[in-house]
Amino acid sequence: MPIANLFPFLSFLRWPGEETDQHQQDNKEPGALDLGRFGLQGQQVFRDTHMVSLYDPDTRRVIVVTLPNPDGFGQPAHDPALEIPLTKAAEALTKHLDHLPPAAVAIEVDKRARLLSFSTNVNDDETWGTDYLLLKEYKLPRPVANRTVLRSELYEAEHTMLGADIVSYLLPNRPPRPLQRHKDRYAFKYWTTSTLGMWHEIQIVARLPRHPNLILLDRLVLDEQTGSKVVGFTTRFIAGRTLDKSRPRFKLRWLRQLMQAIDDLNLKHGIIHQDIAHRNILIDSESDSLALIDFGEAYRIGVEKRGDRDYEGKTWN
Ligand SMILES: Nc1ncnc2c1ncn2[C@@H]1O[C@H](COP(=O)(O)OP(=O)(O)OP(=O)(O)O)[C@@H](O)[C@H]1O
Ligand SMILES: [Mg+2]
Repeated sequence: MPIANLFPFLSFLRWPGEETDQHQQDNKEPGALDLGRFGLQGQQVFRDTHMVSLYDPDTRRVIVVTLPNPDGFGQPAHDPALEIPLTKAAEALTKHLDHLPPAAVAIEVDKRARLLSFSTNVNDDETWGTDYLLLKEYKLPRPVANRTVLRSELYEAEHTMLGADIVSYLLPNRPPRPLQRHKDRYAFKYWTTSTLGMWHEIQIVARLPRHPNLILLDRLVLDEQTGSKVVGFTTRFIAGRTLDKSRPRFKLRWLRQLMQAIDDLNLKHGIIHQDIAHRNILIDSESDSLALIDFGEAYRIGVEKRGDRDYEGKTWN
């Protein structure tokens, strides 16, 4: 059956809790699901087929891979056996992606991962759109709201594939310079899905105090077409790696810095981070100091409520 014909029937079956999870690629534990560079956006299981939606952080698009379901109909939730089609889908996509037209949004493969068909039909496109909010809808304090840059004024120095690229600002009438100095670099955090999440994160980041162990918002990034919609923000680039990647011997002074940052956030600024995990802690290799990043789950006490999160001991406030 052509892939396009399947799509109208799919919306009722989405694997709950599935979302693009980029760090899983960079933080592979033995036995962990290996999807190469792809992130899992969702899976749908049918009597004869599995349809696996994979997010490609390189192109920032989702491609749906349909593969046979030899075991018949099953419920995806909590069944480890269903990880097999996920890894098979990622392998098949890796194999075929370079040979597909750039507009391909879905492929169908046989049980040996041979390509049966592909679709460039926009109706098959599962890439989530974003309806970016206007800068004025953020209602930010004026000094912050005035610090903006157009996306077209960013020079992408490194596409990290982690949802935060390393950029510099393009100066008018000057070609981009090689970035020799870290201080010319910024991390550009952007969203390919939920703009509500971005709204919350910017509310927090825009109000963070200048602090040696916290990121500092530098500019709000506006889309180049309208110049009025917020597509992301930049923060000072921290030259270093997150704790999950480098796994250094943890130093007592870093622990003190982390505690100080948490105390200051909680007690002085009324901000709860809610996602303090090794993948959100950078060690600045120049100053050998710790920086707490990623306020995507944070909230302001008494201002907004974002649910009680518990990442099985990985998170505390
Ligand atoms: N200011 C910065 N300087 C250097 N690298 C950064 C900076 N901000 C973010 N990064 C890099 O980008 C990655 C993703 O950033 P961040 O954690 O804010 O995004 P996220 O998509 O919310 O992450 P998560 O995977 O935790 O959901 C970080 O793990 C880090 O490697
Ligand atoms: Mg993070």
